[in-house]
Amino acid sequence: MTPASEGRWALIVHGGAKAIEPGEEEANRRGVLQALAAGRAVLEGGGAAVDAVEAAIRVMEDLPVFNAGRGSALNEAGGVEMCAGLMDGRDLSVGAVGAIRNVRHPIAVAKRLLGEKEILLVGEGATLFAKENGAEMVAGEALVTEARKAALEAMHDTVGAVAMDRGGNLAAGTSTGGLAGAKVGRIGDSPLPGNGLYADNHVGGVSFSGDGETIARLALAARVMAGMAEQGPEAAIRDAVERLPGTGGAGADGGAIAIDRTGRIGWAHNSPAFAVAYANEGGGEPRACLGKDEEARD
Ligand code: GLY
Repeated sequence: MTPASEGRWALIVHGGAKAIEPGEEEANRRGVLQALAAGRAVLEGGGAAVDAVEAAIRVMEDLPVFNAGRGSALNEAGGVEMCAGLMDGRDLSVGAVGAIRNVRHPIAVAKRLLGEKEILLVGEGATLFAKENGAEMVAGEALVTEARKAALEAMHDTVGAVAMDRGGNLAAGTSTGGLAGAKVGRIGDSPLPGNGLYADNHVGGVSFSGDGETIARLALAARVMAGMAEQGPEAAIRDAVERLPGTGGAGADGGAIAIDRTGRIGWAHNSPAFAVAYANEGGGEPRACLGKDEEARD
């Protein structure tokens, strides 16, 4: 865990709890660093945590190496339906979309929903809201990559970011193409507060990736929030992630990133890899790792 001082920003992003194929290591590393740079620019300019999270996730939604936006997993009908969520720790507002189609940046649609009464729109309603609110619409094929057509195994990784701005405000976000081969209309943990994400200025913020059904059944983001003050963000995530196989079976894996209200950054995973990049003000060069083992080796 990396401590940060009061009044200084902190940012962590992830590119999904997953196995990273040989040859894709550098694309994952570059991708999370690029996302971190986008979020960092917002925070260094005095911007809000919620804007930094959106900026970071938008970058990863455009990179085909990640299962979000372009490069999303294909469902059982061969189509792309995406989920994204954004939570603002200042007032506990949530904007989230589920099974949304034809948008380039689901996280931007989630952000637009932050000011509305509704916290979650799904399917046709979500796509309609996106159109009516000026979201960038794309043909479904624009989100499909050849690599995803060839990869119909049950992958379920997600991208995410958690930020603290100079005002001490926290935000957390997620974006995902969901589970490959899943039923049409399936929604996992990512857009659900208390499951795939949560942020509260009094506690911290957290963003999950992994086996969405199991993360949701265990309400893992809520568990991390409950443990964060006492245990610190990293130990709270470790405890949460260790629960996955006990409920979802031996293959249930995941990972999460978090920042607590004092600016401490933590992350942990039980997936084979978890591409993460993080930085905080005054903390030197940004770090990027493809897993905890790598962080421990450096
Ligand atoms: N964790 C993302 C999903 O299962 O949809």
